[in-house]
Amino acid sequence: MLGRTTNGGTRVKRRIRVGALLVCLALFFGLIPARAATELPADPALRALGDQRGLSIGTAVGAGSLANPAYAATVRTEFNVVTPENEMKWNSIHPEPTVYNFAGGDAIVAFAQQNGMKVRGHNLAWYSANPSWLITMCNDPTVTRDQAIAVLKDHIDTVVGHYKGKIAQWDVVNEALYDDGTLRAGCGTGQTPWGKMIGSDYIDLAFQFAHAADPAAKLFYNDYNAEALGTKSDAVYNLVAGLKQRGIPIDGVGLQMHFDLGAPSAADVASNMSRLNALGVEVGITEMDVRLFLPAGDAQLAQQRRVFHDMLATCLAAANCHTFVMWGFTDADSWIPSYFPGYGAATPFDSTYNPKPAYFGLRDALGMQTDETKVVEAENMSTKTVGASTLGGWELSANGEVGNYFPFPGGNTTITVVAKGVQGGGAWPTMDLKVDGAVVATFTVASSSWAPYSFTTAAYSVGHNVSVAFTNDYYAPPQDRNLFVDKVSVGSVVEAENTEVKSVGHAVTGGWELDQNGYVEHPAQFWTGGLFNFTVVASGTFANGAWPTLAVRIDQVTVGQVTVSSSGWQTYTVLGVAPPGRHRVSLAFTNDYYSPPQDRNLFIDSFSVAGAPTLTP
Ligand code: XIL
Repeated sequence: MLGRTTNGGTRVKRRIRVGALLVCLALFFGLIPARAATELPADPALRALGDQRGLSIGTAVGAGSLANPAYAATVRTEFNVVTPENEMKWNSIHPEPTVYNFAGGDAIVAFAQQNGMKVRGHNLAWYSANPSWLITMCNDPTVTRDQAIAVLKDHIDTVVGHYKGKIAQWDVVNEALYDDGTLRAGCGTGQTPWGKMIGSDYIDLAFQFAHAADPAAKLFYNDYNAEALGTKSDAVYNLVAGLKQRGIPIDGVGLQMHFDLGAPSAADVASNMSRLNALGVEVGITEMDVRLFLPAGDAQLAQQRRVFHDMLATCLAAANCHTFVMWGFTDADSWIPSYFPGYGAATPFDSTYNPKPAYFGLRDALGMQTDETKVVEAENMSTKTVGASTLGGWELSANGEVGNYFPFPGGNTTITVVAKGVQGGGAWPTMDLKVDGAVVATFTVASSSWAPYSFTTAAYSVGHNVSVAFTNDYYAPPQDRNLFVDKVSVGSVVEAENTEVKSVGHAVTGGWELDQNGYVEHPAQFWTGGLFNFTVVASGTFANGAWPTLAVRIDQVTVGQVTVSSSGWQTYTVLGVAPPGRHRVSLAFTNDYYSPPQDRNLFIDSFSVAGAPTLTP
């Protein structure tokens, strides 16, 4: 029951305090050794947990939004670092050749200082958010390379100099590369003016200028689609290797992590972090969000939780990752809905600042629990009372219950409770295992040693609350036949499919546009296995002697392909076979064999899987 996870922050906090109080009382009475106290942090806010782990954890903020008290309160409670979402970009901070406007940036820096937070500066050279005067200059053939270098230097000296000593990290160069790893250079959309006016060494120069202007600031190269392994992250790796070789002062690589549910695998992200570590640079997660198709249901929120959890856990496990920043923290104020039509709900707080499952995933990664297979006190309790913590478990006596929200892997799933009991009044205790509050099994815990009690559920496809409760409270007054619960685990959660998918089709009038690497995923998942019929209404654009091709994929494996050889809407059907279990099906543009990619766009009007609802934009 996800409603449980949208408790207000105060309510969540109160539970934690009760938990902490119980620990204190138990300590006082000598019931548990002191070490247990450090295992349950008193303050579960991300900020306190991040401080404990030496992690800068934060969010992009807007100067205007900070005027909203609820927004500001959440930022100062939950985070220890902020990034200006737009206020330090060229068009904000340097609107005319000789005019600098520091108002927005200063407001954010002042907020951070008042609240003891760090600031990540963003950014000093980018293809986007440039003032029109800079584009005019780029298009002016009389402008020399030296003049362009002088303008870049003046900007960096002035901006970095203005904030000297106040900015912990700067994104010096942002998104310098295309997805194919080549350098953006030019005056048009998506092209970096510096690449054209100066050449590829503008990157070296920008880092050198920034270092001279504030030697204490850590300097980052920041990009997207380069978080894991692949062409673009190889290119970023090579770029950084070159900078290091030439002695350019670069300290880190920002992995933006603007993901959807087809996020790369944590293992690949870990490999990328580790190879960058070997080059001698830090990495930081700098702009994370996980966009969902709207409306997002419990299943999507559970998967989103896992992506946030896994990426933060990956950062914490990496030797060189000390920064985790999200691109906005509330669904009330995220760039996603306007940039990715049809998507939203990309952040860990809903639009009224209540924590979503993703928030608890982050907290879990920070040590409120070590992984998804352990219960956590104070999270998503679906019940009245929490068992007191005892050494090695929770003590559940009359009406005591512990539980947690678990993402389910799909398919038949085994839930295991490790428990022990104390016989009293002639009986062993009994415990009910509940899924979303409904009893699915009852066990008699007839042993005073820890033992597993397992139950295999039917196929639950989404996240659920799993809890265990002490139940044979039929003596009055209740007898002491206590039950101790050490751990509740749910299967081994399977996620991180779709590792190869890079971007998502954009909604256009009358459909989605799928160009290179674009795909659309159907939210339906199927279980029974066997033959499936996929129906797609699509149209294509003939270009460079070819019509586009469209693949139907099950779990990212192509099961059928069609050539969309008509510029009018046509219905194409594909038959696919899948084994029983949970599967994800998507449509992808596939004949991306021109370099540079040609415009042979593919449009999808609707997409249906036999038996599932039709997906339309
Ligand atoms: C986005 C902001 O969130 C939007 O408000 C603005 O309109 C466009 O830029 N990568 C980046 C960020 O490095 O600066 C972008 O921020 C999101 C993608």
